[in-house]
Amino acid sequence: MKKLLVLTGGGDCPGLNAVIRGIVKRSMQEKDWKVYGSIEAYHGVMRDPQEIVELDNNRIAGIHVKGGTIIKTTTKGDPFNYPVKQADGTYKNEDRSDDLIARIKDLGIDAVISIGGDGSQRISQKLYEKGLPVIGVPKTIDNDLSATDFTFGFQTAVEVASDAVDKLVTTAESHHRVLIMEVMGRDAGWIALHASIAGGVEVCLIPEIPYDINKVVERINERYHRGKGFANIVIAEGAKPIDGEALERESDEIGYQMKRLGGVAYQLSHQMKQAGCEADIREMVLGHLQRGGTPVAFDRILSTAFGVKAFEMALAGKFGQMVVYKNNDYLEVPLIEATGEYNYVDVNNTYLVQAARGVGISFGD
Ligand code: F6P
Repeated sequence: MKKLLVLTGGGDCPGLNAVIRGIVKRSMQEKDWKVYGSIEAYHGVMRDPQEIVELDNNRIAGIHVKGGTIIKTTTKGDPFNYPVKQADGTYKNEDRSDDLIARIKDLGIDAVISIGGDGSQRISQKLYEKGLPVIGVPKTIDNDLSATDFTFGFQTAVEVASDAVDKLVTTAESHHRVLIMEVMGRDAGWIALHASIAGGVEVCLIPEIPYDINKVVERINERYHRGKGFANIVIAEGAKPIDGEALERESDEIGYQMKRLGGVAYQLSHQMKQAGCEADIREMVLGHLQRGGTPVAFDRILSTAFGVKAFEMALAGKFGQMVVYKNNDYLEVPLIEATGEYNYVDVNNTYLVQAARGVGISFGD
């Protein structure tokens, strides 16, 4: 009997369960494979007692429509910087990667499928270099992995954000207000760009195009002078003014090593007032709503195909690779390439930037 271990790492994202189901369903067509899940990414392997669950048909039936992940996830489980409690009660980050690999070997695991974003897949590559037979599946609502045209979860986040814009337009119009909506995306402006076009906003601010606050206010004031009297702005959490930086917060959570973004909607509102915007402004941070709930059909399909393909890669022993969706096909790329470059909005070559400008959306530049 061969054993496959699945884990979900990093922030959760709609479609994780559909990937798990794809892996397990496909494995059931082979006589000699069993699939196990490690709870909360590699924590399940590292904890004593271990938290490993068998993923059989009963556990995965119908889960493709559910948000979240049935095997839980964490952003605090990097085995190369693993938070270990010291005698005095404090935590210290230690490299526990050798221990992790030894434990996975002891469990008799033949293949590992790690479902995660860029951070998780960088860990996969490092573990692969140390001998772990691992395959990556790219997830993130941010869509910031360059090897794949889409990560799953992104389309669902865009749907949630676009729906929110539609709702904010009606309230902005009723009150003659400016409504600022902040979306996630980390250092990439994909969610903001897509939701801005879908929602037809006036201003879209993304990390890749630092904004000039005077240009933003100019565009808003123009709306009021033309008599329309309301406006909608979408701002990505990583957006920054030409003379400033993105808003970053320190996290005091043990083991959390990512930067925390957020709050730019309030900062922008303040800057607009300072720059002479006379309209009433309200701010809204969409936050984790973008990550929760049922995946849209596109993400369910992408996730299911990713799961099936990842299992087939395990069958073929294609380790150190990641499944990707490129040019309408499902392919494999080496993890080292897949994690080499971020997928930012390429301001000069992304046609959607031109299309947005074409319908009068200002990027504040
Ligand atoms: O990477 C996904 C993401 O949702 C980002 O868009 C966001 O900046 C971050 O994760 C939030 O992370 P957390 O849930 O740990 O606060």
